[in-house]
Order: sequence, then structure tokens, then C-alpha cells
Amino acid sequence: MDDITKSVKRERTSTVGRGKAVTREAPLDELHWQNDLVTVSFGDSLQHYQNWETPTCIISDGAYGVLGFEGDTSDHTGIPEWYEPHVAAWSRQATAQTTLWFWNSEIGWAAAHPILEKYGWRYVNANIWNKGKGHIAGNVNTSKIRRFPVTTEVCVQYVMEARVGGTPLREWLISEWSRSGLPRKAANIACGVADAAARKYLDKGHLWYFPPPDMFEKLQAYANEHGAPAGRPYFSLDGENPGTAREWEKMRSKFKCPYGVTNVWERPALRGSERFSIPGGKAVHLNQKPLDLLTQIIEATTDAGDVVWEPFGGLFSASVASHRLGRRAYSAEIDPTYFHYGLERLRAEGLQRSLL
Ligand SMILES: C[S@@+](CC[C@H](N)C(=O)[O-])C[C@H]1O[C@@H](n2cnc3c(N)ncnc32)[C@H](O)[C@@H]1O
Repeated sequence: MDDITKSVKRERTSTVGRGKAVTREAPLDELHWQNDLVTVSFGDSLQHYQNWETPTCIISDGAYGVLGFEGDTSDHTGIPEWYEPHVAAWSRQATAQTTLWFWNSEIGWAAAHPILEKYGWRYVNANIWNKGKGHIAGNVNTSKIRRFPVTTEVCVQYVMEARVGGTPLREWLISEWSRSGLPRKAANIACGVADAAARKYLDKGHLWYFPPPDMFEKLQAYANEHGAPAGRPYFSLDGENPGTAREWEKMRSKFKCPYGVTNVWERPALRGSERFSIPGGKAVHLNQKPLDLLTQIIEATTDAGDVVWEPFGGLFSASVASHRLGRRAYSAEIDPTYFHYGLERLRAEGLQRSLL
């Protein structure tokens, strides 16, 4: 093997943070906090997931490979190992309705993507947060860094791939129709359309569309009435009864997008009063995310009363946004300083601790 084809052995990346802007030495006086909508715990989220309700949305803002906090890796090569146990746990508790929003740097996401796919997360869209030139103004010596200055982060949308008895939804739908013995074109009669049903719902490639619940029920009813009697029931989601529109609706994640929103989010980095600071003005957490961006992704993929997970709490920004929107939030934070100030922030938000 010549030198070019030899795989490169890398040192394990460091996980020692660059130090915090604010460090608090006093012991924590509470390790768990909850009110009617928000539950936050001190410690490793891996120890808490099993106590959290089924998520409709998971907002991951963990390691970026930039030593951004103690435990972050020093570059992207440590990212797959860092995320794998979390991704495995998310997959165990997610359903076909769950959306994952994965925040990271471009290279951090690229390193994590194979792990996300391995555990059943299907890539939907990469959204770019552009913080604008103000983010780097005057601070970058491009002849020294020898690249264009970065002003972006990504927030990548994944959904949990729906399966029936282990088969991905599209293949299952096509195989149920073919099992009924009906010709492909009969799907159009079933749905009362000229040609759209066979073309969209039974397509084997990227032109496939998820049939709306009323169309699914029409396909199901037609197949069970006109399909080969021996194979009934067709399109059963519980193995016994024909699937209903209501059951089918739960086979995909929620999504609604206000008119005009695209995948490029132009928004300056967090400054001003939203940045949580100690008296004297020092910002507590350098990675605090803006509430408006979190609000946008939570509103797009959940309804009131749904559950949002924030595995890497920091100052619990996603939980604050969830609470304002009437969603139920679960979060954990492993660093005592951030946990302490995260609780202060929840109190400053006017959230009252539950007496239960
Ligand atoms: C990028 S910051 C999140 C900032 C947060 N989005 C905000 O707006 O405040 C990541 C946080 O995750 C915490 N963390 C890292 N590993 C963790 C784990 N296994 N369990 C819980 N928290 C963890 C870090 O201490 C850090 O505060």
C-alpha cells in the first residue's frame, strides 16, 4: 500500500474546554426543577432520557468540535463518538412523528451525519443561520487564516424514518398494493383522480409522496374491497385491522412553514438584553441560542402540548421558547455553573416551580 492510500491515524481529540466566561464554585442547591410545562435536571442527559416523555421534537445543540464548552471536542474527528450514545437513545424513544433539529458547524454536522443515518434519522434539509458580517467585523486576519471568514452555523432537519414491521413506509405502501393483486393504475380509481395516485403514492423513486390521510384511507378501502380476498387485510398498521386515516397521520412528522421562510436564516448573533448575563454584564454562556430561531423550529414541527427535548441545556433556551409556546420541555445540563444560571433564567422568565 503506498502512502496515499494508508488510512490516517488520528490522536483522540481533546475534550478540555477553553474555560467559561463565568464560573460558580458554590454547590448547587437544587438538582431538579419542574413546573407544569418544563422539567430540567442537573447531570448527563444520557441518564435522564428514559424519564422523559416521547418527543415530538428534539433540539440538539451539543458538541461542535470547537472546544466550545468543557466536554466539547477539539475538532470534528471526535464528533461521531461524542454523539453516538445520544443518537442511539433518541432513536429508541422517537416515533415516526419526531423531528430532530441538529445544530452544528458545517464540518461537525458532516461528521455526525453518518451516525444519524445509522440510527434511522432521515435527512430532510440543511438550514443555514447567517449571522452576517457584524459577527466578524474587524476581527479576522484573512491572510493568516487563509480562508473566507465563517459567519454561519447549520441547523439540520431530520425525521425518524417511519417503518411498518421494519419496512420503510414507501416500500411498504407499494408492496401492500402489489400484494392485493390490483393493477397499479387502479390506485387512481381508488383515489378518484386521473393519474396522480399511481404516479405519486406508488412511485418507487424520489417522486414518491406520502399519501394524505384521506387518500391513504381510500387506497386501503379499495384494496380491501377489490383486492385478492386471501391477502386481507391490506394496509393494516396493527397487523389486524385495515389502517385508518387517523393512524396514518401519525406515520410522519409534523411540519408547517409560514409563507416566505426559507432555509437561510439571516439573523445577527445574540446580543443585548436577551443574552443572559450576571450583574456587571458578563454573558454566562457563549453558546446561548436566539429564542426567535428556536421558536421558529418548534412552531414548525410541534403543536401546543407536544413534547420538546433539549438534551444539551446550556441556559435552557429551547425550553424557554417551548414554554412560551405552550409545549412541554425536558432538558438536562451537565455543568453546574450553567445549570445554576439556567435555573436563574427560568425564574427570571417568571416560571414558577411546581409544588408537586
Ligand atoms: C452548545 S451548548 C448549548 C447552549 C444552549 N442551546 C443555550 O441556548 O443555552 C451545549 C451545552 O451542553 C452541555 N452538555 C454537554 N454534554 C452534556 C450531556 N451529556 N448532558 C447534558 N448536558 C451536556 C454543555 O455543558 C453545554 O452547556
